[in-house]
Amino acid sequence: MKFSKRTNWNTEESELSLAFRQRQSAGLPIYDLTASNPTRCGFKYSADLLPPLVDPATLDYDPNPKGSLWARHAVCRYYADHGVTLDPGQVVLTTSTSEAYSYLFKLLCDPGDEVLVPQPSYPLFDFLADIEVVRIVSSPLVYDHGWQIDIEGLRRSITGQTRAIVLVHPNNPTGHFTKLNEARQVAAVCREFDLALIVDEVFLDYGFDAADFHESFAGLDLGIPVFIVSGISKICALPQMKAAWLVAVGPHSVAALERLEVLADTYLSMNAPVQRALPTWLEGRMAMQSQILRRVQANLAELDRQLARQLQMLVNRLKVEGGWYTILRIPAMHPDEVTARQLLDLGVWVHPGQFFGMSGSGWLVISMLCTEVQFSRGIEIFLEYIHRNQDSYQIG
Ligand SMILES: Cc1ncc(COP(=O)(O)O)c(C=O)c1O
Repeated sequence: MKFSKRTNWNTEESELSLAFRQRQSAGLPIYDLTASNPTRCGFKYSADLLPPLVDPATLDYDPNPKGSLWARHAVCRYYADHGVTLDPGQVVLTTSTSEAYSYLFKLLCDPGDEVLVPQPSYPLFDFLADIEVVRIVSSPLVYDHGWQIDIEGLRRSITGQTRAIVLVHPNNPTGHFTKLNEARQVAAVCREFDLALIVDEVFLDYGFDAADFHESFAGLDLGIPVFIVSGISKICALPQMKAAWLVAVGPHSVAALERLEVLADTYLSMNAPVQRALPTWLEGRMAMQSQILRRVQANLAELDRQLARQLQMLVNRLKVEGGWYTILRIPAMHPDEVTARQLLDLGVWVHPGQFFGMSGSGWLVISMLCTEVQFSRGIEIFLEYIHRNQDSYQIG
C-alpha cells in the first residue's frame, strides 16, 4: 500500500512535547503559559448551556447543507450585534473553523495553488493546506511600535498560483487587529491580482481598547470577495461543542455560496443538538467573554508589573491589542526550543516563537488564559531564569 504524499508528515513526537508529557505523567508542577483550552482554566460555565441539547425537536432530522436556518439566524444576530446586517443565506455552518478553511481551500484552490498568510500566525495553516494540497506562502508582518502588514512584501509574495490572502483579525499570536487602512490596501492587492480574502475573526470579541478598530470585515464594503470564518470555540469559549461558520460577502458571493452548498451537502457534518443549542450559546457569550477578558487583562497587567519591578531590560513585551496571547522578546542566547526546554525543567511551559512561524531566536509566545495565581508564579520563575542566565546573554 502507498500513502498519499500529502500525509507524509513526520509524526515523531518532538523532544519538547515528549519532555512535557513525561513531566505531566510524573505529576510534577507545570505553570502552563500555553493554555488555550478555556474549559480547563477555571472559568464558570452556566448550566443553562446544556438543556437545549436535549430538546425533543432534535429528534427530527431536517438536513440542510448550510446548517439549520434557526442556527444561521443566530449567527446573523451575532453580526447584527456588531452592526452588520447579514442574510442567513450568506452563512454556512461548519463543525470548526478548520472545516470552514477546508471548504474555502477546496472552493478557491486547485492542487498546487497558493494561499498567502502574513506570519507569524496560527500554526495549523500548514496542515490545513497540506490536506487540501495547497501551499501556504508566508508574507512578513513587521513590528514597529505595533504589528503591521508589509503590503509591498505581501505583493511580492504573489505568484500566478496565488488564490487568496488570509488575515487573522486580531491575529494569533501577535494580538494585533488589521487596521482599516490596511484592510483597504490588502483589498486593493486582492482586486489587482483577482484574489479572495479570507478573514479569521475567532478572537474578534477579545479586543482590549474600545478605541481600536475592532470591526468585523463582514461589514466592510471592500469590493472584493471576502470570506469570514469564526466559531464558538473562542467566541463562547466552547471548543468542545464543535460549531463554527463561514460568511460570504462581496462580489461573487452568490456563486461561491452555491458551490459551498454542494461542498457542505457532501459532508452534512453539523449535528442537530448543537445547531439547536447554538442560539442559546451565542446569546450567553458575554458571560464567558467578560470572564476571559478580565483574566487576560489581569494577567497582562501582572506581566507588566513583574517586568517593571525587575527593572530589567532583558525581556520586552510586544504591543498587544487583543486575543489571548502575547509575545515576549528575550535575549537570543540559544534556539528558543532550548529555552522552552530549560524553562520546562523549572516547571514553566511556553511556546517557542518558531511554533508560530517567527524567524530567528529570542521569541517566546505566552498565553494569558491560565489562572492569575498560575500565571504570576510562572512569570516569576521565568524572570528568575532569565536573570540567572543574564551574564551569558548577548543581546541580538
Ligand atoms: C486564529 C485561529 N483560528 C481558529 C482557531 C480554531 O478554531 P476552531 O476550534 O473553530 O477550529 C484557532 C485556535 O486556536 C485560532 O487561533
